[in-house]
Amino acid sequence: MTAAVVVRGAVKSYGAHRVLDEVDFIARAGEVTAIVGPSGSGKSTLLRAINYLEPLDSGYVTVQGELIGVRLHRGRLHQLSERAILRQRSRIGFVFQNFNLFPHLSVLENVIEAPITKGVPKPQAVARAQELLVKVGLKDKAGAYPRQLSGGQQQRVAIARALALEPDLVLFDEPTSALDPELVGEVLTVLRDLAAAGTTMVVVTHEIGFARDVADHVVFLDAGRIVEQGPPRQVLLAPEHARTREFLGKLV
Ligand SMILES: Nc1ncnc2c1ncn2[C@@H]1O[C@H](COP(=O)(O)OP(=O)(O)O)[C@@H](O)[C@H]1O
Ligand SMILES: [Mg+2]
Repeated sequence: MTAAVVVRGAVKSYGAHRVLDEVDFIARAGEVTAIVGPSGSGKSTLLRAINYLEPLDSGYVTVQGELIGVRLHRGRLHQLSERAILRQRSRIGFVFQNFNLFPHLSVLENVIEAPITKGVPKPQAVARAQELLVKVGLKDKAGAYPRQLSGGQQQRVAIARALALEPDLVLFDEPTSALDPELVGEVLTVLRDLAAAGTTMVVVTHEIGFARDVADHVVFLDAGRIVEQGPPRQVLLAPEHARTREFLGKLV
């Protein structure tokens, strides 16, 4: 399996607070990588660094072998143009905790927005969006507006939107944390389907059952450092570190 994402020596501070502290991280193509850890441990910052929403102080990220947000010139990293960064970002789907749909656009319009902006002909973008809405179980909601949908439905639209440009990978930042408990399952079902179809996914989640069943690789982050990582049966069922055990113990 090849690496879809490589993060090397990632350091990020806010003022004196080091939020990512020399993080080395790999997510493999076709796999589900779950990032778990306590609130404030740097999970969102790590995810946002992968698509350059959060530039690093030092270290670098590659996706499919290509440096993200920067280029190497004479031994130094130089920031890419905004246009080049947007082009790279369009290959990386991102699903946020709070869906972040465009409220004034219908479901279909939300899903075709990025492809249309990118120059995909409208009939093609619409056909693809309709396929994606079938995939997330919302084919009857194409004309609805976000406010008319439940949180679980909105998040499924957000997932369809994240897939619209056929990205190399999809990043999920606590995709079920904002949902009422009875709506979590329908979103996890979509994530399971994507995983089964071989989508490369990096998922920040507190759903340990989901991570145990679906993730190929689990990373436990604490205070900006990776404490341990490995297959779920190791990290989640037989953790080596006391800190991991303590964290998992608090979740059950
Ligand atoms: N823009 C910011 N400015 C200052 N501090 C921030 C900012 N974003 C995050 N932080 C701090 O960085 C730490 C890690 O945040 P985050 O990556 O969101 O953690 P997690 O997603 O694991 O809860 C937290 O202490 C948070 O308060
Ligand atoms: Mg977070």
